[in-house]
Amino acid sequence: MTTTDSTTADRIRRNPGHHRVLTGDRPTGPLHLGHYFGTLQNRVELQRLGVELFVVVADYQVLTDRDRADNPAEHAENLVLDYLAAGIDPDRATVFAHSAVPALNQLLLPFLSLVSVAELGRNPTVKDEIAHSGRSTVSGLMFTYPVHQAADILFCKADLVPVGQDQIPHLETTRTVARRFNERYGPVFPQPEALLSAAPLLLGTDGGKMSKSRGNAVPLGATEDDTARLLRAATTDADRRISHDPEHRPGVAGLLQLAALCLDRTPEDVAEEIGDRGAAALKRLVTEAVNEYFRPIRARRAELAADRGFLRDVLRNGNERANKVADTTLAEVREAMGTA
Ligand code: TRP
Repeated sequence: MTTTDSTTADRIRRNPGHHRVLTGDRPTGPLHLGHYFGTLQNRVELQRLGVELFVVVADYQVLTDRDRADNPAEHAENLVLDYLAAGIDPDRATVFAHSAVPALNQLLLPFLSLVSVAELGRNPTVKDEIAHSGRSTVSGLMFTYPVHQAADILFCKADLVPVGQDQIPHLETTRTVARRFNERYGPVFPQPEALLSAAPLLLGTDGGKMSKSRGNAVPLGATEDDTARLLRAATTDADRRISHDPEHRPGVAGLLQLAALCLDRTPEDVAEEIGDRGAAALKRLVTEAVNEYFRPIRARRAELAADRGFLRDVLRNGNERANKVADTTLAEVREAMGTA
């Protein structure tokens, strides 16, 4: 497993059955290679080690920065498709949607009572998302979704959360909610830890962070031709001698990094191989490396994509299981709080 924290990794390897992982994504569009190397690979590795995996299709969280979600059910199924293609095993993992688990959502109310408005307003990821939303008003959900995310994590008492750096403030909120709940009402929740991927932030074809909304991403499910086209259009520079210099040559560095991840080599090594043959040669190499690496994943994805009924079943079974777990936790919460 690639995590920045080797003692946690060792602890998990020694006793995988003692841990539970929850993570998830907003169903807003296809997952891309940044998701794959940033978190999907880690989830699959944790599953292989024998850790129980919960994955939330965060459909309510989509509504933080838009008025309505278009085709939410279709987006949810496509997210499940990307998960399964990447190697998440529906027989072992619980893949479910927010909107299908009422007891999870009910935890939001007592949890909201445990944080102050000032704390909610200080969350740097939320501030950043507000700044990038381009909207003149900010919804209440935008400020409170980190507490909802705490419910995602705590309803199943997950202790490990594999996420990217931007999710760290939300994990702090989750830990605060768990701690204060336990102090006020008695011990119910664990203190979950973030598992940060050791893979560096994947750069997109414009040299910025790879992201759906920036239009610089290579989707996991892209065809080989699409992949070639997207990578051919990547921003590079006129210097024919290829070097790994993320600060001054972010576009080139992004391509080198992607090739390095697919080939299990270092970016410097790949740069050395291209030498002074220029960006076009580098793009050809990266395209081949990506297409080769993702060929089996894409083949599996194409097979699964043909069976929408199966994707719906996976989600239905996951929802059912998540509901059982959430009902149990909510009963404990009511008991601890002394409510009906
Ligand atoms: N906020 C996460 C994202 O935007 C998605 C998410 C929702 C999540 N609930 C979660 C991640 C719980 C980890 C744990 O990518």
